[in-house]
Amino acid sequence: MRLLGNKTKILPNIERLLAARGQRPGTLIDLFAGSSSVGRRFKAKGWRVFSNDHLPAAHVMAIATVECDGPPALQRLLAARSMRPVAAQVRRRVDDVGDPDAAPLACVLEWLADSAPDEPGLVTRQYSPEGRAGRRYFRPEHARRIDAALAAIRRFRAEGRLDRREHAVLVASVIDAADRVANIAGTYGAYLKHWHGNTDAAWQLRPPAFTAPGADARSAAARRRASGSRAFRRDANRLARRLRGEVLYLDPPYNHRQYAANYHVPSVLAETSELLDPERLAAYEARLYGKTGLRPYDGERSAYCAARGGKWKSRCYDAFADLLEGARGRVGAVVVSYNEEGILGRDELAHLLARFARDGGEFDADRDFTEVGYRRFRSDADHAGRRYQVVDGRARDEVAEWLIWSKGKRARRIRGGARAAV
Ligand SMILES: C[S@@+](CC[C@H](N)C(=O)[O-])C[C@H]1O[C@@H](n2cnc3c(N)ncnc32)[C@H](O)[C@@H]1O
Repeated sequence: MRLLGNKTKILPNIERLLAARGQRPGTLIDLFAGSSSVGRRFKAKGWRVFSNDHLPAAHVMAIATVECDGPPALQRLLAARSMRPVAAQVRRRVDDVGDPDAAPLACVLEWLADSAPDEPGLVTRQYSPEGRAGRRYFRPEHARRIDAALAAIRRFRAEGRLDRREHAVLVASVIDAADRVANIAGTYGAYLKHWHGNTDAAWQLRPPAFTAPGADARSAAARRRASGSRAFRRDANRLARRLRGEVLYLDPPYNHRQYAANYHVPSVLAETSELLDPERLAAYEARLYGKTGLRPYDGERSAYCAARGGKWKSRCYDAFADLLEGARGRVGAVVVSYNEEGILGRDELAHLLARFARDGGEFDADRDFTEVGYRRFRSDADHAGRRYQVVDGRARDEVAEWLIWSKGKRARRIRGGARAAV
């Protein structure tokens, strides 16, 4: 899924920062995981990753790509009477192509994409022009295939044929396929009036980008450690008080845009894949509202998007301070990614990270701030004339991301972070 603010481009900078501070692989806690780009990279390098995000779609992606080590065998699903032809196809594929690990998922995804019984449902009614609201997120033919895949996944889940991880892998593939044909420019905050070129793409379900544990590491110990990676769906501030690890990576939203309102459609797909009771599914659908078919998201309204309110400077500042206080003594060091145009300024961040390092840690506001320049993300709406401020001395398309490091006071028992009693 294309996610606003994903850190794919600055992964090498994060790696270099940790290497320069002599940080050896251990447990990395990624509390605002989004697309899981950071968690995937560090799992491959032999870190155990605890990945967290409160968005349902991000959580499903994290289970599939950070928690799972590879494609699931889907044995109980393929044992279903209705799936016998697919099971036979798996056997043929293994005979012809080999790769017995990948074949079950590949065949099930092909079946879900093309052959799951057509079933117009919530996606067709709410997010295609066939529905009363006339929303144009998906062409009707794609919406029907999304509905068909989700209905089949729900049925298999209700029959006990999919465990939590298998279920997440199939749903993540549907979310990703839907994202490739969605009629949007960047986020789901709005759909486009005319059908965008994306919507002509062929409908296809692909396996998620699994991360083999320690794929880029040499030792068996690193592979074992990375294999203990887990995905959570909690409020970041609460979880910070429960987990332990060597590095806490923080990449919160930096402006007023609530992710829940900009990624509601993938989250609806994730949530409705779990609603096995038709009455609950109907009640869920009845609560969708507004021009874009939002789901109620009060529980996911992020304090990190609030530039006002709060006890000190802003709700965002207070949330940051509370999170760092909760993590003090539980994590060895913090790495923060933050955009220079964000709600918090450089001085505020420096103050927060110096407080984190008090009583024996290390933080130097000059040495520990790194600037990484990159081109600004702009949705079509921005191109259409919405204004944003350009920082003095920079070109219109240039913006910097800060990478900030702070070493905490000595933690008493960092290792053993797997005791994630959450
Ligand atoms: C800037 S994005 C993270 C991008 C991510 N590092 C990547 O590479 O894709 C911020 C994420 O934080 C999540 N988020 C915001 N507030 C949160 C909170 N209080 N608890 C958990 N997740 C939160 C959002 O859902 C969003 O996915």
